[in-house]
Amino acid sequence: MSRIDYSVSEGLSVLRLDDPPVNALTLATLEELAACLERAAGDADTDGILITASSSHFSAGADIALFRDIKTSQDAVRISRVFQEAFAAIEDSPKPVVAAVAGKVIGGALELAMACHYRVCTPGTLLAMPEVKLAINPGAGGTQRLPRLVGVEPALKMLLGGGMVDARQAMEMGLVDAVCEGDDLTACAADLLRSKIGDATLFSPDAVHDQERLSRENRVASPISRTRLRVDKLADPAANETALDQAKRGLAGGPAELIAPSLIVEAVRTGLNESFEAGLRFEQTAFAQCMAGTAARNRIYLFFATREMGRINTGTDTEFPVTRVGGKKDLYGEFGVSPRIAVIGAGSMGTGIAQAVVMAGLPVVLIDKAPPAVARSRERIAASLQKRVSQGRLSPQRLEAMMGGLTAASDWEAIAQADLVIEAVFEDVAVKQAVLRSAEAVVDPRAILATNTSTISLDVLAEGLARPERLVGLHFFNPAHAMPLVEVIRRRGAASEVVAAATAFVKALRKTPVLVGNREGFFVNRLMIPYFKEAFWLLQEGAEAEAIDEAMCGFGFPMGPLTLIDMAGIDILADTDAVLSRAFPRHGPLPGAVAALVERGLVGQKAGAGVYRYEKGRHDRLDNPACREALDQVRRREGLAPRAVAAEEILSRLVMRMACEAFYVLDEGLVERESHADVAMVLGTGFPDFRGGIVKYARDLGLANVLGQLEALAGRLGERFAPCELLREMAKNERHADVTTG
Ligand code: 3HC
Repeated sequence: MSRIDYSVSEGLSVLRLDDPPVNALTLATLEELAACLERAAGDADTDGILITASSSHFSAGADIALFRDIKTSQDAVRISRVFQEAFAAIEDSPKPVVAAVAGKVIGGALELAMACHYRVCTPGTLLAMPEVKLAINPGAGGTQRLPRLVGVEPALKMLLGGGMVDARQAMEMGLVDAVCEGDDLTACAADLLRSKIGDATLFSPDAVHDQERLSRENRVASPISRTRLRVDKLADPAANETALDQAKRGLAGGPAELIAPSLIVEAVRTGLNESFEAGLRFEQTAFAQCMAGTAARNRIYLFFATREMGRINTGTDTEFPVTRVGGKKDLYGEFGVSPRIAVIGAGSMGTGIAQAVVMAGLPVVLIDKAPPAVARSRERIAASLQKRVSQGRLSPQRLEAMMGGLTAASDWEAIAQADLVIEAVFEDVAVKQAVLRSAEAVVDPRAILATNTSTISLDVLAEGLARPERLVGLHFFNPAHAMPLVEVIRRRGAASEVVAAATAFVKALRKTPVLVGNREGFFVNRLMIPYFKEAFWLLQEGAEAEAIDEAMCGFGFPMGPLTLIDMAGIDILADTDAVLSRAFPRHGPLPGAVAALVERGLVGQKAGAGVYRYEKGRHDRLDNPACREALDQVRRREGLAPRAVAAEEILSRLVMRMACEAFYVLDEGLVERESHADVAMVLGTGFPDFRGGIVKYARDLGLANVLGQLEALAGRLGERFAPCELLREMAKNERHADVTTG
């Protein structure tokens, strides 16, 4: 199978990457590249080489699957070296080479383009070096060529941030030589190349020799085409050192597991202070160091696991029919007509869901019985989108199209034509049941009813519905327009095409669906409510709130549990736990501290105080003496003497409580795969991705170890830590649970 198409066009050798879906660079591609370059060098009919792609995106870089097969540090060094050598062959080509790139140019693909003598892109091109997001350093010369092309500071920004730069920025930085405004990218690139062919100051052996000498002496040679020889952007050694030191300082305090950022800085430094070649060797060994750590393996595992979620087995292949606002009609799926989405409830969840729908380019009707609520909701969506416009993340035209797709109303008739109705009203059984029944009464019998409940069993909500088989759960997380995960809840008896369409709808929103069986709390809350409760047990026993939060931030969560629950509302924790602890008595009662805070109205940020105190205009959390007082009272009542709780105990209890519950969920067959549980935790809760997710973390610790910790905790603290049968079995066999959704 050929991955690169070779042709000759008007005196140029044209190499087209042609390996769908994303032209990922495999070792076989690199071999073909070498063969094509050799052929081009000897091709008497051509004077230059143009590298491009047959698809609208140039390439997503190295095939990440390659990294999964790395077993030893020699393997890692070899892969990095093979990439470096393949790209060095481009740079050393005796004929000038231009890269004509469009769409996404990512990682190894940008490293390839940087090894070419010239780069031309389209106005819509996006370029990035995202290796750091996979917890690795670029291994194909990126840490060496990027600073030489754009300067040290901008290069570090790209290498350490991993973000995209657009064509305009790339041109300003010097990352590309031209942006093709016309619609024939290859013609533009060919023109640029032809203007260089025959320039004796560039490609004759004497000129190259001269360029090498000047580069060694750190003198600027102009014009110069081989990136490794360029020194013009490195002219100020003191400024370069400052940029490197600043970058290094900025990394202080990050998780010890994430070694790539600091290795990237050192790779750049080595290339500047020693030589380009020394920098490349540093890259190889750094790459091996990264690959030997769990952080890279876990992020690579999540990369594939997340994409695998898009292919979850819902029993049928139904796609959600999509008509994007202002876009072309794209009709498929079970309705045979364009979908009309309706959201009921203009609270924060309903507003966020409606915003997510319009942001995906789909029209939506948002209703609420209170007209002022829908008006406020509309304003909030407009303000949020407007903010994106001011940040340059959205065009005013798109904003207008999105807002044009939003209909706000307060009568049931407005949703009569809906194909999918999402109920997002107050989390109360009776209220939700009444709303679902009213919605069912006005919509077409083929419409899908979805509930955004976060805890209540769908069997309870289906009571009284004439068509319970058309009910599905779509549990969004707050803020719904921003959070990437949606739990799709499948109850027994739900029509499989309903679940399939709901899943496809989530994908149409460009979010990740996780299919979860129908039990109270589903997956994420089933783990998170016990986690929050454990934080309150620790607080009640005497641990400091800050110490509890810091322990989890140190573990890698963006926010500690007490800060988070102060944001969500401590009263919400109490209400949600009422549902969960009824369903799972093993979870035990709510810590007295929670009830004491709720009784005093200390329910969190919305009340100005919860575990912490908040002041208007200040973003930081303050000590809350009223919370301390409430805790003292609970301790007196329960005869508890406060004790110092070590950081290790805090961490172990909080993490083990989540792990314990995760294995119960697997045992009950509520999620299809371990990897689904991991992706759901990372995308739904901010569980640190470099730890791979809760089950992967447990596997990395060793299941026997986890089992031992849980048994010890259960002996001391009770049943809530008691491990399930599946974990015992898995610890015995260390096998993968591959259970089907119930
Ligand atoms: N390697 C292997 N497979 C890749 C890939 C890669 N670099 N990038 C994407 N894919 C696969 C996906 O797994 C998916 O496969 P599937 O259809 O079988 O699930 C398919 O391509 C399409 O990908 P997405 O579903 O993500 O499609 P999108 O259109 O949403 O996004 C993308 C496309 C922006 C390219 C996105 O896939 C992406 O960001 N990919 C990762 C890019 C990356 O991190 N590259 C750096 C690689 S490391 C490197 O180059 C090291 C170098 O220094 C040696």
